[in-house]
Formats: sequence, C-alpha cells, structure tokens
Amino acid sequence: MRTAVLVSGRGSNLKALLDASRGGNLPIEIVAVGSDRLGAAALDLSKEVGIPTRAFPIMNYPHRQAQEEDLLTWMRENRVELLLLAGYMKVLGPQFIRQADFPVLNIHPSLLPAFPGLHAQRQALEYGVKVSGCTVHLVDEGLDSGPILLQEAVAVLPEDTEESLARRILEAEHRLYPEAVGLVVSGRVKRVGRRVQILQQEGSE
Ligand code: GRF
Repeated sequence: MRTAVLVSGRGSNLKALLDASRGGNLPIEIVAVGSDRLGAAALDLSKEVGIPTRAFPIMNYPHRQAQEEDLLTWMRENRVELLLLAGYMKVLGPQFIRQADFPVLNIHPSLLPAFPGLHAQRQALEYGVKVSGCTVHLVDEGLDSGPILLQEAVAVLPEDTEESLARRILEAEHRLYPEAVGLVVSGRVKRVGRRVQILQQEGSE
C-alpha cells in the first residue's frame, strides 16, 4: 500500500515503520515523507534510505489551508493510499480531512482520551496517573479525538521523569504503530461509529 508519512522532528516512529516494511513484516511502501519543518531529522533519515522528502514550512504560505492544499496535491501526485502521522506537530484542518480519500492514522503518547495535545507525558505525570501509554487512532477533525485502533498501557513509576516515561512509552509506540498499520492494511479494521472492531480475518465478523 502506497504510504506517506508526515513528521516534524526526530523520526523514531518513522524508523520503526520503515524497519517493519523493509523487513517484510508490514506490506506498505513508504513513498513520500513530508514535514512542516525544514530541519527535521526524520527528513535526513528518509533521504538516507532513498525516500523522496519534501518540507512544507507554514511560513511559506499565506495561511494554513494553502499549506494543506499543497500537501494534498503532493499526496495525490504520489498516489498515496494511506497517510501516517508520526510526530507531525500540526493539526490537519477539516478541509484536508474531508478531502483526503485515504485513511489517516496518528500515534499519540497517552491513553486517549486522557492527555491530548502537547506534552502528554508531562500531563500524565502532573495529573498523577499510575498508568499511561500510547494510542493509535484514526484522524478526524479534532485534536487527538478520532476513533481508537489500538492502545498499549505503560506503568508510571514513582521515580519517573518526563524523559524516562517518554522513553518507555516510545518503546511501546514502536511496537504498536506497525501493528496497527498492519491491521488497517490487511483489511481487518471495521469502524462502527466511534468504535473500531478488529476482525479475525479480512471482512469477517
Ligand atoms: C511520539 O511520542 C509520538 O507519539 C508523538 O510525537 C512523538 C514523535 O516522536 N506524536 P518521533 O519523531 O517518532 O521519534
């Protein structure tokens, strides 16, 4: 499945997806990696392995919608069938979501609906939860609010700092994202309203 990934920074989730697809464990082909930031390390990673990249810095556009129109055109040119957000720090606007004729997935470092938005690990520590984790969800027009595909829990330890918790959650993210993408690609995901059912086999109940 022809897949685009949008990133803003480091790209460790992109790497986990690349490793899974190149290792033959995930039937996607990452054909394009886009970013809203020129210097994102994830772009270098993509270039190293020969994947076409493009930066779409917001400041180059009169408004956000123009940037998103450009993104969408680029995805159409690349015949994208699946879009994965992997640390993309901008919220895609309603127009983009409505016009995208492919599934859009995101990974978030908390057990949604707890702690959406920025600094999810810090929010979890400040709130005092004993368990946090990560969520892969379908992207809708809200902030980290789309139907949930998979979640993995991670214990919050008494000695945790934001960094140590983020590190353990990230390890879970690197397992969970390829697994969730695999379910979507194999047609084993059925959406019923807000609920996402995981089917045993493609098309079965
Ligand atoms: C991850 O924690 C992801 O859940 C969040 O942003 C971070 C991106 O990290 N949306 P990386 O760029 O994939 O290393």
